[in-house]
Amino acid sequence: MTKHTVASVDEILEGDVLGVEVGGIEIAIVNIDGEFYGIQNVCVHRAQRLHTATQERINEEHCITDGPGVINQEECWMTCPGHDWKFDLETGENPATGKKMRTFDVTVDGDDIKVEV
Ligand code: FES
Repeated sequence: MTKHTVASVDEILEGDVLGVEVGGIEIAIVNIDGEFYGIQNVCVHRAQRLHTATQERINEEHCITDGPGVINQEECWMTCPGHDWKFDLETGENPATGKKMRTFDVTVDGDDIKVEV
């Protein structure tokens, strides 16, 4: 495992998310009240990307949801903009299906956000 600098702290505001790539692995870095979490960016459901949550509606036509994803700072989870699956940012788990996304350790070193891959 190596720590890779992927962004600076001012690039991801509280309640926001940034998509990065490390060695071909797409990772969404999420700022929850100043703490950073890393979760695989490619959804286990239908491979939509989590990093556009809160910004862009990418729902498919048949989907019952009609908004972009959300990030819940109080309970530390986010939803995928694809079809609104919810993922715990600490465990990567979708509580409804038990399916898991890979999570990554994220640390802050000065102004740098580092992810361990
Ligand atoms: S692609 Fe993520 S919920 Fe469907």
